[in-house]
Amino acid sequence: MKVAVVGLGKIGLPLAVHYAGAGHEVWGIDVRDDTVDLVNSATEPFPGEQDLDARLKDVVGAGRLRATTSYPAAIPGADVVVVVVPLLVDDRGDPDFALLDSATSSIAATLTPGTVVIYETTLPVGVTRDRWRPALETSGLAEGEDFHLAFSPERVLTGRVFADLGRYPKIVGAFSDEGSRRATEFYESVLRFDDRPDLERPNGVWDLGSPEAAELTKLAETTYRDVNIALANQFALFSQRAGIDVHAVIAAANSQPYSHIHRPGISVGGHCIPVYPRLYLWGDPGAELVREGRALNASMPARVVDVLAAAYGDLGGATVAVLGAAYRGGVKETAFSGVFAVVERLREVGARAVVHDPLYSEGELEALGLVPHEIGSSIDAAVLHTDHASYLTLVEGDLPGARVILDGRNVLRADRFPNVDLLQVGVGVERRTG
Ligand SMILES: NC(=O)c1ccc[n+]([C@@H]2O[C@H](COP(=O)([O-])OP(=O)(O)OC[C@H]3O[C@@H](n4cnc5c(N)ncnc54)[C@H](O)[C@@H]3O)[C@@H](O)[C@H]2O)c1
Repeated sequence: MKVAVVGLGKIGLPLAVHYAGAGHEVWGIDVRDDTVDLVNSATEPFPGEQDLDARLKDVVGAGRLRATTSYPAAIPGADVVVVVVPLLVDDRGDPDFALLDSATSSIAATLTPGTVVIYETTLPVGVTRDRWRPALETSGLAEGEDFHLAFSPERVLTGRVFADLGRYPKIVGAFSDEGSRRATEFYESVLRFDDRPDLERPNGVWDLGSPEAAELTKLAETTYRDVNIALANQFALFSQRAGIDVHAVIAAANSQPYSHIHRPGISVGGHCIPVYPRLYLWGDPGAELVREGRALNASMPARVVDVLAAAYGDLGGATVAVLGAAYRGGVKETAFSGVFAVVERLREVGARAVVHDPLYSEGELEALGLVPHEIGSSIDAAVLHTDHASYLTLVEGDLPGARVILDGRNVLRADRFPNVDLLQVGVGVERRTG
C-alpha cells in the first residue's frame, strides 16, 4: 500500500517508521523543513523513543520511508492517510483546531478517489463527523463513495511506541462497512498483536461501529483516570483532616478485587489526563461528575500549599523550595504541570517560591517564569512536587533550614528527616504524630 502519515512528531514518526517496516511505501508529511530533512537523512529529530533511530535508518536506507512538506507529492494515489497532527488546547483546555484544520484542508486539496483517511489524534466526540467529513468533501469527493473516513485513537505512550503498538487493541470507528473494512485491513497489515488472555475479545482491531464510539473510547479511558484520581484526592483531603493515612487505606481497599483507587497527590499534569476530560466536557458540558473531578484535581496544588501553611504558620517572607517542575518524574515536560499553581499559591501567601528540577537548567527554569533553586541552599520550607528518582534519596542536609516539608507524592522517607516536620498529602497530622 501507499501510506501517508501527516505529522511526523513523537507519535507520527514512529508510526510512519513502523508502517514502512511492515513493507508499505510510506510518505511522511510535516510542515517543518528541519524535521523533514532530518528524517530523510535518517536522523531521529528527537531523543527518547526506544529503537526509533535504528528502525528509521533501516526504512530510509531501504527507500521505504520518504519525508516531505508537500501534500501534492504524498497524498494523491495514497491507499491510506493517517493524520496525527496535534489538537492544541488553551489554558482552560478548550480545543483549538487550527493545526488540524490546516492539515485537513491540505489533504482535501490533494485527495484522490480510493483513499481511506484515518484520524488518530484524540478528538472531542463528533468532530470526525461534523468537522472532518465536510472539510474533506470540499475536495468534491463523497465520503463512503469516493473515499472513506475513520477515527482510530492512538493509545501508545511515547518512549515505548513500538512495544505498545502490539499491546493494546486498535480501536476503529468508520461511517460505513466498507470504511471499516478498509481501516481494519490496513491496521491488520501493520500490527502484530500480543496475546492478551485478560481481554474479553482477542487482541486485534476492534471495530466500535462509529467514529463517535471510537472518539469516546479514548476520552473515556483517560477521563476515568482523572475522575478516579479526584476521588483519591477527595479521600486524601478528608484523611488529612480526620487523622487517617489515606495511602494505607487505599492499599487496604484495593486488596479487594473490585476496588482500583488511584494515588492521590499534589497535581495531575501533562498533555493528556488534565486535558482529555476538558475535551469530553466540550461535547457533554452537563457532565457534572467529570467537571467536579477536574476542578478538584486542578485545586490540589493550592490546597496542598494551604496544608503547608497550616503547619508552618505565616509563610509571608519565607523561602519555600518547590522540588520538581516537570509534571511527573523522569520526564522533561511542563505541559499543564502543577508547579505553576504551587508557585502561584506560594506567591499569593507572600512566600518566596524557588524551584529545582534535576532535568532543567537554571536558564530553562527562568524561561518558564520560575526562580531557580540549588539543592543545598538555605530555605525555610519545601514542597515536593515531582517524583524524580533523585529526590527519593534526599536527606535533611539537602534542604538546610527547612522546618516543614510537604511531600506531594508520598516518596520521602521520614527516617531521613528526623528533625523536620514532614507532611504527606492525605496523611492526617494527629494520627501521624500519635
Ligand atoms: N505524545 C503522546 O504521548 C501521545 C500519545 C498518544 C496519542 N497522542 C496523540 O498524538 C497527537 C500528536 O502528538 P505528538 O506528540 O506526536 O505531537 P508533536 O508535537 O510531537 O508532533 C506533531 C507534528 O505535527 C506537525 N504538524 C503541525 N501542523 C501540521 C500540518 N498542518 N501538516 C503536517 N504536519 C503538521 C508538527 O510540525 C510536528 O512535527 C496528539 O495530539 C495526541 O492526540 C499523543
